Amino acid sequence: MQTVRTSEELTRTVGQLKRRGTLALVPTMGALHAGHMTLVEEAQRRADSVAVSIFVNPLQFGAGEDLERYPRREAEDALMLERAGCELLWIPSAETIYPPGFATNVSVSGLSERWEGEARPGHFDGVATVVAKLLLSVKPDFALFGEKDFQQLAVIRRMAADLAIGVEIVGVPTVRDADGLALSSRNAYLSADERERAAAFPAALELARDAIRRGLDEGTAIDEAVNMLRNARFSRVDYFVLVDANSLEPVAKPEGEARLIAAAVIGTTRLIDNLAV
Ligand code: PAJ
Repeated sequence: MQTVRTSEELTRTVGQLKRRGTLALVPTMGALHAGHMTLVEEAQRRADSVAVSIFVNPLQFGAGEDLERYPRREAEDALMLERAGCELLWIPSAETIYPPGFATNVSVSGLSERWEGEARPGHFDGVATVVAKLLLSVKPDFALFGEKDFQQLAVIRRMAADLAIGVEIVGVPTVRDADGLALSSRNAYLSADERERAAAFPAALELARDAIRRGLDEGTAIDEAVNMLRNARFSRVDYFVLVDANSLEPVAKPEGEARLIAAAVIGTTRLIDNLAV
């Protein structure tokens, strides 16, 4: 595996890989776990070579969010990727992604405004801007993203289509721990007690999904799920809603492709998750 940092090194190495066949890119913020690694595995199934980027993107963190304490584990990440057989690791500096004078903002209206966008103003502009930059820097055949961040995936699909980026966006199902909690770099913030109680989050989503599938009305199903979170001493539920999987607009009944999406806070950690209904 080649590790590169500058744009010049990136261009050279990407050129070499593309001469050998197709290329897939897996953008990440590092602190890699088994969720990230399934994106790498799916990328390997789809393309001849796989590139992973690690960049903790300041633009997508709001004031008072966890930019400074976000876990950084470059050496361990590189080792995991090397062992997985990844061809290229790109670790750009902030100056490489946002050179002096950088003044462009990519904003996906509509899809970015609700749910995560409401709780974290500007977050999806930061995501869309950096992902556009990463995709245009590498110009891979495929780029892979997790369904774990369901709204992010929708925003990126829209952005890539609207701007004719020419990269196929691939969504990958969520990888979970044995108790159901979706793997996330932010799970590292949880104390042992919080980690145990956090299992109520996927359990609440499953409870609501099963109730809705049995025909219970969506409002009652979600009230029960939110109660379950309160019992597990979650301090806040930002949203817990049934939405259309494409528009992310609320739906009253699971018609077509519907998705339960939720965000809740335990201790000082904000968790997000979702489930197909
Ligand atoms: P990060 O949180 O590091 O996640 C990188 C990719 O891994 C995202 O596509 C995310 O959805 C996926 N992922 C995370 N946890 C997962 C899990 N448990 N199962 C499956 N996939 C999972 O998401 C970001 O970084 C950033 O916003 C980024 C897209 C890199 C832009 O900065």
